[in-house]
Amino acid sequence: MPDGGLIRKMWMGEAHKYRDHLLRLDTESRTRRFGGGVSDDCIRDYVDTSMWFDTIVHGFFVDGMLRGAAELRPLCGTVTKEAEAALSVETEWQGHGVGSALLERTLLTARNRGITHLHMACLAENRRMQQLARKFAAELSFSFGGVVGEVEAAHPTPLSVVREMVSDGHGFATAVLEAQSRLFKVT
Ligand SMILES: CC(C)(COP(=O)(O)OP(=O)(O)OC[C@H]1O[C@@H](n2cnc3c(N)ncnc32)[C@H](O)[C@@H]1OP(=O)(O)O)[C@@H](O)C(=O)NCCC(=O)NCCS
Repeated sequence: MPDGGLIRKMWMGEAHKYRDHLLRLDTESRTRRFGGGVSDDCIRDYVDTSMWFDTIVHGFFVDGMLRGAAELRPLCGTVTKEAEAALSVETEWQGHGVGSALLERTLLTARNRGITHLHMACLAENRRMQQLARKFAAELSFSFGGVVGEVEAAHPTPLSVVREMVSDGHGFATAVLEAQSRLFKVT
């Protein structure tokens, strides 16, 4: 993980940070994140309409700026508890383990929500995402020219619940300290 980087869950009032991060992705990363080319307006609508009620987003922050994110979105209408995960890391921070750390936290959260299947859709040529999914024992199967990685998450244990609580507590404390230090710089 790059120096000074922090991963924590994002809050409802931070949707604008997620939107701006997605807008900053370079063309190739944006295409890979959304499985095709999308306009700036599409990204704005996406964040406005589909975020925050049952979606959990982990953010990777450097100096208070969101540089990477992992979205966990439960899929409605499925008998088994299934969810979709999507990752994005800005170009300058790719290849430093941020994606791996984000996916690890997302898997822990999914596990503690009893989600048994986690789908990660990515384009067939997205070798980096496939390599990342493989690291977490994902099984890849081809469908409609794309690749769907499915991870079977284990059931929650007291330890996995505590691990998430400790991570959340640490993330919250660091975010408060960061906000305070920004306030002192302004005043
Ligand atoms: C996919 C993505 C999230 C990965 O994040 P990252 O921070 O670059 O990931 P990591 O640094 O943890 O590296 C993941 C693995 O990919 C490997 N990798 C790096 N470049 C690679 C390449 N060109 N081909 C194959 N594997 C590659 C790394 O070696 C690493 O595996 P290792 O730890 O076994 O060595 C990031 O590149 C990204 O945002 N891409 C654009 C959006 C996207 O593709 N999203 C996925 C669709 S949901």
